[in-house]
Amino acid sequence: MRNNSPQITQQAIEPYAIRDHQSTRLLQELHILTQDGKMNQDSRRKLKQVFHLTQLIEPLIKQILENQSQMNMVDFGAGKSYLGFILQDLVCKLQSKPCHIIGIEIREELVTYSKNLAKQLNFEQMEFRHLSAEEALIDPNLPHQIDLVTALHACNTATDDAIRFALTRKVKHLVLVPCCQAEVASLLKKSRSQTTSEKHLLQMWRHPIHAREFGSHITNVLRCLQLESYGYEVTVTELVGWEHSMKNELIMASQITNPKKAKAAKLHLEALLNDLDLQVLQHRFT
Ligand SMILES: C[S@@+](CC[C@H](N)C(=O)[O-])C[C@H]1O[C@@H](n2cnc3c(N)ncnc32)[C@H](O)[C@@H]1O
Repeated sequence: MRNNSPQITQQAIEPYAIRDHQSTRLLQELHILTQDGKMNQDSRRKLKQVFHLTQLIEPLIKQILENQSQMNMVDFGAGKSYLGFILQDLVCKLQSKPCHIIGIEIREELVTYSKNLAKQLNFEQMEFRHLSAEEALIDPNLPHQIDLVTALHACNTATDDAIRFALTRKVKHLVLVPCCQAEVASLLKKSRSQTTSEKHLLQMWRHPIHAREFGSHITNVLRCLQLESYGYEVTVTELVGWEHSMKNELIMASQITNPKKAKAAKLHLEALLNDLDLQVLQHRFT
């Protein structure tokens, strides 16, 4: 696909310069660029996140394609599929082998929007499914082999479902930027102190804002241990500066095989669930 608006300049989305092959029409349709080629200020934040993720995902796609004839990716809580479209446009189009991207989204109108956009711009390797993340776990129509799972700000437990999906399918790589997660915080609030040390621990979530933040933090810690216990190597960093997003934790996981490390992670995971009185979540994180 060619740039079809000559008036759109490289400066328009500086510092994320448009690459030669990139579709400015796509950027306009996603409202990242205005119709006269200017950067849409409201989209700047999202663009920064998506471009940064694209840079991190590009080497994973190339690595997958070195060893197989095509790549399948599933994006959970895809929304308007900014990530999928931009990845397809910036990276996938340049590969000599097909890269199939499937967006999973619970809101039907967003699925319809993405389907129409893909059709209109001939993004043939993109597919959108009106499914909850939980339904995707058992959907027989998704390809069996999935190589890469992404979830960018997928709400609440949708990130956990994305992880479960990836573990079940033995997906090679996961790229997750979790959103809020209310389940753990609500359970923490119900926990009752018994011993003195537990009473001290309770102070961590006595105030509602601490319960929310600690709940989110511990959820991500449990997610990382879960991935490690299944033999993934996990890195946790910041996606972009905190001024761009409050939900900024980037969890990247790649399959390796290290049984010793996996066993240690499993033990830590179980101990943490016990210490925090969260045994009821064993099914989710183990
Ligand atoms: C904050 S938006 C992020 C959208 C997109 N990933 C992005 O970063 O632009 C979260 C999206 O997840 C969808 N969502 C929430 N819960 C979901 C679930 N259980 N299964 C599938 N999609 C879900 C919402 O409808 C929404 O479009």
